[in-house]
Amino acid sequence: MEVTAHQPTAQPPLGMLAELTHRCPLHCPYCSNPIELVTRENELSTDEWLDVVGQARELGVLQVHLSGGEPLARHDLPVLVSRAADLGCYVNLVTSGLGLTEERLTDLVDRGLAHVQLSVQGADAETANRIAGVKAHAHKLKAAQAVKELDIPLTVNVVLHRANHHQVADLIALAERMGADRLELANTQYYGWGLRNRSALMPTAEQLAEAEPIVRAATERLRDTMQIVYVVADYYSPYPKPCMYGWGSRQLTVAPNGDVLPCPAASSITTLTLDNVRSRNLADIWYRSAAFNAYRGEDWLPDPCRGCSRKGIDFGGCRCQAFLLTGDAGATDPVCSLSPDRGLIDTILASTPSEPPELVMRQNTIKVV
Ligand code: SF4
Ligand code: FES
Repeated sequence: MEVTAHQPTAQPPLGMLAELTHRCPLHCPYCSNPIELVTRENELSTDEWLDVVGQARELGVLQVHLSGGEPLARHDLPVLVSRAADLGCYVNLVTSGLGLTEERLTDLVDRGLAHVQLSVQGADAETANRIAGVKAHAHKLKAAQAVKELDIPLTVNVVLHRANHHQVADLIALAERMGADRLELANTQYYGWGLRNRSALMPTAEQLAEAEPIVRAATERLRDTMQIVYVVADYYSPYPKPCMYGWGSRQLTVAPNGDVLPCPAASSITTLTLDNVRSRNLADIWYRSAAFNAYRGEDWLPDPCRGCSRKGIDFGGCRCQAFLLTGDAGATDPVCSLSPDRGLIDTILASTPSEPPELVMRQNTIKVV
């Protein structure tokens, strides 16, 4: 038995992020996937994924997000959509749009796909293709059109950073033209590959100040047609984000090789022992594994979080960020102005260069198909 009598009680997870593959046609410099990607040979097989989806539903999962990499690189995507939908799950496809032809989409929708989340890198082809590292923008416009023609809900997801922040108004206009039901404007988080580009990606305070009133006005103007979700640049905030709404509380991630993660970036916490669906049942991992119980609940909270009135709001912030910046995943997120480590963030912000360095594009050393 790995966990103690102090094991906190957990509710069943609502969602599962199934990272079917790390193979991806894009080379985004902000990629939060690990530096070392799972190779195709080490991916779970179709039968293993079908079993994982079944176990997830038994555990209580209601939303299955099929993601990657690019999930369309898996030729068994249709049967996985069928399985999840047949079990009663709400099935969401998180995609770059490359490979999402009208024919493939129609088949997926017939099998029960309920929602598409499409990434967009910039407001115009030149910017978007430069950030994606390939000529992807035109494919994305076509993919969005196909989604709308089939009348299923579309979320457009844009990662904001220094090289596209000035396009916020144009990105909102683009999402409107695409017919998006929801637009996520998410300032970059610095994990995996993205961390190595932090100084090039970090938006300036001026960019953030310019964007915020534009987003506010659009949110108001479009409130009946397109929901806008703006994820703040937390290095600039006095308090951290409520990452994952608390560790091991709502969602689990299954990596392409079957590792089960409390959050998509948790493999960056090298002090965490991860379990794998090839050797342990998903429910057992969710309720009883060391990794899922490490930062669950409030017993583990350090000072100053322990006595802080915001602990029910942000849960001490992000464990991955705490680990990547301090080496201790159990520390208060250094973003917090009450953290003894806030100086680390202030130093990073103070050293944001006036001329950003070149972006280092994501290197995919694994074949896409
Ligand atoms: Fe959140 Fe901890 Fe900061 Fe309080 S001290 S605001 S609980 S991170
Ligand atoms: Fe892992 Fe925040 S990204 S806990």
